Amino acid sequence: MKKERAWPQFIRNLLIMVGSRSRPQLRRPTWIIVLLSIVCVFLIAAYVYPPPSPSSCSVFSSHGCGSSAFELPPAAHTRELTDAEVQSRVVINEILNYYPVQTKKPKVAFLFLTPGSLPFEKLWHMFFQGHEGKFSVYVHSSKEKPIHVSPFFVGRDIHSEPVGWGKISMVEAERRLLAHALLDPDNQHFVLLSESCIPVRRFEFVYNYLLLTNVSFIDSYVDPGPHGNGRYIEHMLPEVEKKDFRKGSQWFSMKRQHAIIVMADSLYFTKFKHHCRPNMEGNRNCYADEHYLPTFFTMLDPGGIANWSITYVDWSEGKWHPRSFRARDITYQVMKNIAYIDESPHFTSDAKRTVVITPCVLNGSKRSCYLFARKFFPEAQDKLIQLYSNSTIF
Ligand SMILES: *[C@@H]1O[C@H](CO)[C@@H](O)[C@H](O)[C@H]1NC(C)=O
Ligand SMILES: *[C@@H]1O[C@H](CO)[C@@H](O)[C@H](O)[C@H]1NC(C)=O
Ligand SMILES: *[C@@H]1O[C@H](CO)[C@@H](O)[C@H](O)[C@H]1NC(C)=O
Ligand SMILES: *[C@@H]1O[C@H](CO)[C@@H](O)[C@H](O)[C@H]1NC(C)=O
Repeated sequence: MKKERAWPQFIRNLLIMVGSRSRPQLRRPTWIIVLLSIVCVFLIAAYVYPPPSPSSCSVFSSHGCGSSAFELPPAAHTRELTDAEVQSRVVINEILNYYPVQTKKPKVAFLFLTPGSLPFEKLWHMFFQGHEGKFSVYVHSSKEKPIHVSPFFVGRDIHSEPVGWGKISMVEAERRLLAHALLDPDNQHFVLLSESCIPVRRFEFVYNYLLLTNVSFIDSYVDPGPHGNGRYIEHMLPEVEKKDFRKGSQWFSMKRQHAIIVMADSLYFTKFKHHCRPNMEGNRNCYADEHYLPTFFTMLDPGGIANWSITYVDWSEGKWHPRSFRARDITYQVMKNIAYIDESPHFTSDAKRTVVITPCVLNGSKRSCYLFARKFFPEAQDKLIQLYSNSTIF
């Protein structure tokens, strides 16, 4: 609060200073540009190097003022944190700073969130075959017990509960899958998939891509429109401010530390459970599966997430649901195009319908963005298997 009131005075002094010294020598347009540039530089400097805030000293007095031992994300500096927030951040920072135990045989956990049987199980079987010991499969079926055709899926059903579209039970099912998969210490990376997802790369590629990167693939962007920030309500304060609210695809992949953080979080989860749901006051709808994790990770470990989802989906038709691929749509070229995309688009839902295209950069170099894709009709499986069995493809 104090800080915000102090800056306008500072800027006023700056304006007087610059104005009185430079005006006589410069023509008017040049003078305005110079003035604006100087103000910008000072504002950026103020943002990057905020003056020490008295509140952060009193909250973390045991660590000493200005100590770098306990770095908080920038958002934390603008107001005093509540007890629950401080406690939550302590736990989260401890987990993040703790280097994950490298097991001898690291595995990728594939978490299938489905209503019933998995239509692409035969395709997944081909994907997994020959890589035993490098993956584990978990199935959460919310409606009916699946009939498995692949031995990789038999006996992999976990305890499940009904899931409502857009309801918090969706996020609860995701957490249930993560919890079961975390029981195996060899699982180092966790991928959430639906019954309509397929792999677009071979197993080796997926395994190396996920285990050699140190980020989680959590999709996260600002959508100023009604299906983004329009879903935010003030009841989320003080913990979740509108400026921190994010949107992103539900289909994540995450590192082990991040999965543990999700288990440890009850503060933010509870906020979203109560204040981001369908049929809120004023006929507003919010879908926690599209906002909780993007917002949570952007607030607490922004550098630890890639901001795109490794599961491709085609929203370019601008409809309520994404494009679904039928058997007749599946060609070598279509699948290859998806696999080699190296920029990820984000569509806003405001009147401008902007699309922001970001290159997929990992460890300083541009990479292909997608390892999986949705949505596919079950009838597409035979054609996909045909393409997949040709080793030159994908
Ligand atoms: C990142 O790039 C550096 C240099 O190119 C390389 O040594 C390192 O192994 C890479 N790290 C990962 C995780 O790929
Ligand atoms: C990931 O690795 C890159 C380069 O190796 C490094 O610059 C970056 O800080 C790391 N990020 C995290 C979250 O550890
Ligand atoms: C993801 O976005 C956040 C801001 O929302 C940014 O701080 C972070 O650096 C981005 N991550 C990567 C890997 O670019
Ligand atoms: C592999 O591709 C060739 C040419 O594209 C095709 O003729 C053949 O049927 C494919 N193999 C399988 C097993 O589908």
